[in-house]
Amino acid sequence: SVAPSNWDKPLDGKVAVVTGAARGIGATIAEVLARDGAHVICADIPAAGEALAETANKVNGTAFPLDVSAPDAGSKLAEHALERHGGIDIIVNNAGITRDKLLANMDEGRWNSVISVNLVAPQSLVNALVEKDALRSGGAVVDVSSIAGIAGNRGQTNYGASKAGVIGLVDAYSPILKKKGITINAVAPGFIETKMTAAIPLATREAGRLMSSLQQGGQTVDVAETVAYFANPASNAITGNVVRVCGQGFL
Ligand code: NAI
Repeated sequence: SVAPSNWDKPLDGKVAVVTGAARGIGATIAEVLARDGAHVICADIPAAGEALAETANKVNGTAFPLDVSAPDAGSKLAEHALERHGGIDIIVNNAGITRDKLLANMDEGRWNSVISVNLVAPQSLVNALVEKDALRSGGAVVDVSSIAGIAGNRGQTNYGASKAGVIGLVDAYSPILKKKGITINAVAPGFIETKMTAAIPLATREAGRLMSSLQQGGQTVDVAETVAYFANPASNAITGNVVRVCGQGFL
Protein backbone atom coordinates (compact mmCIF):
# COMPACT_ATOMS: atom_id res chain seq x y z
CA SER A 1 0.00 0.00 0.00
CA VAL A 2 1.07 3.58 -0.51
CA ALA A 3 2.79 4.93 2.60
CA PRO A 4 1.63 8.23 4.11
CA SER A 5 3.60 11.09 2.61
CA ASN A 6 6.85 11.94 4.36
CA TRP A 7 8.04 13.82 1.31
CA ASP A 8 9.41 16.83 3.22
CA LYS A 9 11.80 14.80 5.36
CA PRO A 10 12.14 11.33 3.83
CA LEU A 11 15.52 10.85 5.55
CA ASP A 12 14.40 11.92 9.00
CA GLY A 13 16.44 10.10 11.66
CA LYS A 14 18.92 8.72 9.11
CA VAL A 15 22.70 9.11 9.28
CA ALA A 16 24.51 9.72 5.98
CA VAL A 17 28.19 9.89 5.08
CA VAL A 18 29.29 11.91 2.07
CA THR A 19 32.94 11.67 1.00
CA GLY A 20 34.56 14.61 -0.78
CA ALA A 21 31.98 16.87 0.88
CA ALA A 22 34.15 19.99 1.22
CA ARG A 23 33.20 21.37 -2.17
CA GLY A 24 31.63 20.75 -5.56
CA ILE A 25 29.15 17.93 -6.08
CA GLY A 26 29.83 16.44 -2.62
CA ALA A 27 28.99 19.69 -0.79
CA THR A 28 25.67 19.90 -2.64
CA ILE A 29 24.91 16.23 -1.95
CA ALA A 30 25.45 16.95 1.77
CA GLU A 31 23.07 19.91 1.53
CA VAL A 32 20.33 17.96 -0.21
CA LEU A 33 20.53 14.96 2.15
CA ALA A 34 20.40 17.34 5.15
CA ARG A 35 17.41 19.11 3.62
CA ASP A 36 15.73 15.70 3.44
CA GLY A 37 16.31 15.23 7.17
CA ALA A 38 19.56 13.23 7.43
CA HIS A 39 22.40 13.94 9.82
CA VAL A 40 25.34 14.22 7.45
CA ILE A 41 28.90 13.19 8.31
CA CYS A 42 30.93 15.28 5.88
CA ALA A 43 34.23 13.58 5.05
CA ASP A 44 37.12 15.03 3.08
CA ILE A 45 40.93 15.11 3.16
CA PRO A 46 42.39 16.86 6.22
CA ALA A 47 43.81 19.59 3.92
CA ALA A 48 40.24 20.60 3.04
CA GLY A 49 40.07 22.11 6.58
CA GLU A 50 38.04 25.32 6.42
CA ALA A 51 35.95 24.32 3.41
CA LEU A 52 34.98 21.08 5.11
CA ALA A 53 34.02 22.90 8.30
CA GLU A 54 31.91 25.29 6.22
CA THR A 55 29.93 22.49 4.58
CA ALA A 56 29.43 20.74 7.91
CA ASN A 57 28.18 23.98 9.52
CA LYS A 58 25.87 24.72 6.65
CA VAL A 59 24.19 21.33 6.92
CA ASN A 60 24.31 21.13 10.72
CA GLY A 61 26.35 17.96 10.35
CA THR A 62 29.74 16.63 11.41
CA ALA A 63 33.07 17.52 9.80
CA PHE A 64 35.09 14.32 9.54
CA PRO A 65 38.63 14.72 8.13
CA LEU A 66 39.32 11.49 6.27
CA ASP A 67 41.55 10.54 3.36
CA VAL A 68 39.42 7.81 1.79
CA SER A 69 42.52 6.19 0.28
CA ALA A 70 44.20 5.65 3.67
CA PRO A 71 44.34 1.95 4.58
CA ASP A 72 42.45 2.50 7.85
CA ALA A 73 39.81 4.88 6.41
CA GLY A 74 36.98 2.34 6.51
CA SER A 75 37.61 1.18 10.06
CA LYS A 76 37.97 4.79 11.29
CA LEU A 77 34.66 5.71 9.71
CA ALA A 78 32.91 2.61 11.03
CA GLU A 79 34.19 3.21 14.57
CA HIS A 80 33.09 6.85 14.52
CA ALA A 81 29.65 6.01 13.19
CA LEU A 82 29.06 3.16 15.64
CA GLU A 83 30.26 5.18 18.61
CA ARG A 84 28.35 8.39 17.84
CA HIS A 85 25.29 7.19 15.95
CA GLY A 86 25.05 3.43 16.42
CA GLY A 87 25.60 3.01 12.65
CA ILE A 88 25.13 4.53 9.21
CA ASP A 89 22.14 4.40 6.86
CA ILE A 90 23.55 6.04 3.74
CA ILE A 91 27.04 6.32 2.29
CA VAL A 92 27.77 8.37 -0.80
CA ASN A 93 31.17 7.60 -2.31
CA ASN A 94 31.68 10.92 -4.05
CA ALA A 95 35.37 11.74 -3.41
CA GLY A 96 37.24 11.58 -6.70
CA ILE A 97 40.28 12.93 -8.50
CA THR A 98 41.59 13.30 -12.05
CA ARG A 99 45.26 13.00 -13.10
CA ASP A 100 44.86 13.29 -16.88
CA LYS A 101 47.58 12.49 -19.44
CA LEU A 102 47.51 11.05 -22.92
CA LEU A 103 48.16 7.32 -22.81
CA ALA A 104 51.80 7.54 -23.98
CA ASN A 105 52.62 9.68 -20.94
CA MET A 106 50.35 7.96 -18.44
CA ASP A 107 52.75 7.11 -15.61
CA GLU A 108 52.17 4.62 -12.83
CA GLY A 109 51.77 7.32 -10.18
CA ARG A 110 48.83 8.94 -11.97
CA TRP A 111 47.28 5.57 -12.68
CA ASN A 112 47.58 4.29 -9.12
CA SER A 113 46.39 7.42 -7.33
CA VAL A 114 43.25 7.70 -9.46
CA ILE A 115 42.41 4.00 -9.09
CA SER A 116 43.07 4.19 -5.37
CA VAL A 117 40.79 7.18 -4.62
CA ASN A 118 38.08 6.56 -7.23
CA LEU A 119 37.78 2.77 -7.21
CA VAL A 120 39.57 1.08 -4.32
CA ALA A 121 38.22 3.49 -1.68
CA PRO A 122 34.50 3.06 -2.50
CA GLN A 123 35.05 -0.69 -2.25
CA SER A 124 37.10 -0.72 0.94
CA LEU A 125 34.88 1.79 2.78
CA VAL A 126 31.76 -0.26 2.11
CA ASN A 127 33.63 -3.48 2.93
CA ALA A 128 34.76 -2.12 6.29
CA LEU A 129 31.29 -0.83 7.15
CA VAL A 130 29.72 -4.18 6.29
CA GLU A 131 32.39 -6.14 8.16
CA LYS A 132 31.85 -4.08 11.29
CA ASP A 133 28.09 -4.26 10.87
CA ALA A 134 27.91 -0.47 10.72
CA LEU A 135 25.57 -0.23 7.69
CA ARG A 136 21.98 -0.53 8.81
CA SER A 137 19.30 -2.49 6.98
CA GLY A 138 17.03 -0.21 4.94
CA GLY A 139 20.08 1.83 3.96
CA ALA A 140 21.65 2.85 0.67
CA VAL A 141 25.07 3.07 -0.92
CA VAL A 142 25.41 5.55 -3.76
CA ASP A 143 28.62 5.68 -5.80
CA VAL A 144 29.53 8.60 -8.03
CA SER A 145 30.78 7.18 -11.32
CA SER A 146 31.04 9.28 -14.49
CA ILE A 147 29.97 9.28 -18.10
CA ALA A 148 33.73 8.83 -18.71
CA GLY A 149 33.33 5.35 -17.20
CA ILE A 150 30.73 4.52 -19.87
CA ALA A 151 31.95 6.38 -22.93
CA GLY A 152 35.63 6.92 -22.18
CA ASN A 153 37.49 10.17 -22.64
CA ARG A 154 40.75 11.23 -24.29
CA GLY A 155 43.57 11.56 -21.74
CA GLN A 156 41.56 9.79 -19.07
CA THR A 157 42.36 6.07 -19.31
CA ASN A 158 43.02 5.99 -15.57
CA TYR A 159 39.90 8.00 -14.70
CA GLY A 160 37.65 6.17 -17.19
CA ALA A 161 38.86 2.79 -15.95
CA SER A 162 38.25 3.79 -12.32
CA LYS A 163 34.74 5.04 -13.06
CA ALA A 164 33.89 1.96 -15.18
CA GLY A 165 35.19 -0.09 -12.25
CA VAL A 166 32.70 1.64 -9.96
CA ILE A 167 29.87 0.43 -12.19
CA GLY A 168 31.26 -3.12 -11.96
CA LEU A 169 31.41 -2.70 -8.20
CA VAL A 170 27.74 -1.74 -8.03
CA ASP A 171 26.83 -4.81 -10.11
CA ALA A 172 28.94 -7.11 -7.96
CA TYR A 173 27.77 -5.73 -4.63
CA SER A 174 24.05 -5.43 -5.27
CA PRO A 175 23.11 -9.09 -4.62
CA ILE A 176 25.36 -9.19 -1.54
CA LEU A 177 23.97 -6.00 0.00
CA LYS A 178 20.43 -6.95 -0.95
CA LYS A 179 20.63 -9.79 1.55
CA LYS A 180 21.23 -7.14 4.20
CA GLY A 181 18.38 -4.91 3.03
CA ILE A 182 20.73 -2.31 1.55
CA THR A 183 20.59 -0.88 -1.97
CA ILE A 184 23.60 0.14 -4.06
CA ASN A 185 23.39 2.32 -7.16
CA ALA A 186 25.60 4.65 -9.14
CA VAL A 187 25.13 8.03 -10.75
CA ALA A 188 27.14 8.83 -13.86
CA PRO A 189 27.31 12.60 -14.29
CA GLY A 190 28.25 14.25 -17.55
CA PHE A 191 29.81 17.70 -17.49
CA ILE A 192 29.04 19.45 -14.18
CA GLU A 193 30.37 22.93 -13.43
CA THR A 194 32.81 22.52 -10.50
CA LYS A 195 36.44 23.25 -9.68
CA MET A 196 37.33 19.84 -11.16
CA THR A 197 35.98 20.79 -14.59
CA ALA A 198 37.13 24.42 -14.36
CA ALA A 199 40.59 23.05 -15.29
CA ILE A 200 39.28 21.75 -18.66
CA PRO A 201 39.96 23.92 -21.74
CA LEU A 202 37.08 26.24 -22.62
CA ALA A 203 36.27 24.59 -25.98
CA THR A 204 35.82 21.19 -24.34
CA ARG A 205 33.79 22.74 -21.54
CA GLU A 206 31.49 24.33 -24.11
CA ALA A 207 30.76 20.90 -25.59
CA GLY A 208 29.58 19.73 -22.19
CA ARG A 209 27.25 22.64 -21.73
CA LEU A 210 23.58 22.82 -22.68
CA MET A 211 23.10 19.44 -21.17
CA SER A 212 19.83 19.72 -19.27
CA SER A 213 16.33 19.91 -20.67
CA LEU A 214 16.55 23.58 -19.67
CA GLN A 215 19.54 23.95 -22.03
CA GLN A 216 21.91 24.84 -19.20
CA GLY A 217 25.23 23.43 -18.11
CA GLY A 218 25.05 20.59 -15.59
CA GLN A 219 24.82 21.81 -12.01
CA THR A 220 25.93 20.04 -8.83
CA VAL A 221 22.32 19.99 -7.66
CA ASP A 222 21.32 17.86 -10.69
CA VAL A 223 23.59 15.09 -9.39
CA ALA A 224 22.66 15.65 -5.74
CA GLU A 225 18.92 15.26 -6.37
CA THR A 226 19.56 11.97 -8.18
CA VAL A 227 21.63 10.73 -5.23
CA ALA A 228 18.79 11.77 -2.89
CA TYR A 229 16.37 9.71 -4.95
CA PHE A 230 18.48 6.57 -4.43
CA ALA A 231 18.92 7.40 -0.72
CA ASN A 232 15.16 7.72 -0.22
CA PRO A 233 13.74 4.61 1.49
CA ALA A 234 10.90 4.69 -1.09
CA SER A 235 13.53 3.55 -3.65
CA ASN A 236 14.23 0.33 -1.77
CA ALA A 237 13.40 -1.85 -4.79
CA ILE A 238 15.96 -0.07 -6.95
CA THR A 239 19.43 -1.58 -6.69
CA GLY A 240 22.31 -2.35 -9.05
CA ASN A 241 21.46 0.57 -11.34
CA VAL A 242 23.43 3.30 -13.01
CA VAL A 243 21.72 6.55 -13.87
CA ARG A 244 23.35 8.94 -16.29
CA VAL A 245 22.95 12.55 -15.23
CA CYS A 246 24.17 13.99 -18.46
CA GLY A 247 21.28 15.27 -20.57
CA GLN A 248 21.57 14.61 -24.28
CA GLY A 249 24.66 14.63 -26.41
CA PHE A 250 26.51 11.93 -24.49
CA LEU A 251 25.53 8.28 -24.40
P1 NAI B 1 35.96 18.51 -6.88
O1 NAI B 1 37.41 18.35 -7.21
O2 NAI B 1 35.36 19.87 -6.95
O3 NAI B 1 35.68 17.90 -5.42
C1 NAI B 1 36.16 16.65 -5.04
C2 NAI B 1 36.30 16.60 -3.53
O4 NAI B 1 36.82 15.31 -3.19
C3 NAI B 1 37.28 17.65 -3.00
O5 NAI B 1 36.72 18.33 -1.89
C4 NAI B 1 38.49 16.82 -2.61
O6 NAI B 1 39.25 17.37 -1.52
C5 NAI B 1 37.84 15.49 -2.22
N1 NAI B 1 38.81 14.39 -2.24
C6 NAI B 1 39.77 14.13 -3.17
N2 NAI B 1 40.53 13.11 -2.79
C7 NAI B 1 40.06 12.69 -1.59
C8 NAI B 1 40.45 11.67 -0.68
N3 NAI B 1 41.50 10.88 -0.92
N4 NAI B 1 39.75 11.52 0.47
C9 NAI B 1 38.69 12.33 0.73
N5 NAI B 1 38.29 13.31 -0.08
C10 NAI B 1 38.96 13.49 -1.24
O7 NAI B 1 35.21 17.49 -7.84
P2 NAI B 1 33.66 17.36 -8.27
O8 NAI B 1 33.53 17.87 -9.64
O9 NAI B 1 32.77 17.88 -7.20
O10 NAI B 1 33.54 15.77 -8.35
C11 NAI B 1 32.91 14.96 -7.36
C12 NAI B 1 32.77 13.55 -7.91
O11 NAI B 1 31.99 13.58 -9.10
C13 NAI B 1 34.09 12.89 -8.28
O12 NAI B 1 34.06 11.52 -7.97
C14 NAI B 1 34.15 13.09 -9.78
O13 NAI B 1 34.97 12.14 -10.40
C15 NAI B 1 32.70 12.92 -10.13
N6 NAI B 1 32.31 13.49 -11.43
C16 NAI B 1 32.42 14.84 -11.66
C17 NAI B 1 32.02 15.36 -12.88
C18 NAI B 1 32.09 16.82 -13.19
O14 NAI B 1 31.80 17.17 -14.34
N7 NAI B 1 32.44 17.69 -12.26
C19 NAI B 1 31.50 14.49 -13.94
C20 NAI B 1 31.42 13.11 -13.57
C21 NAI B 1 31.81 12.65 -12.36
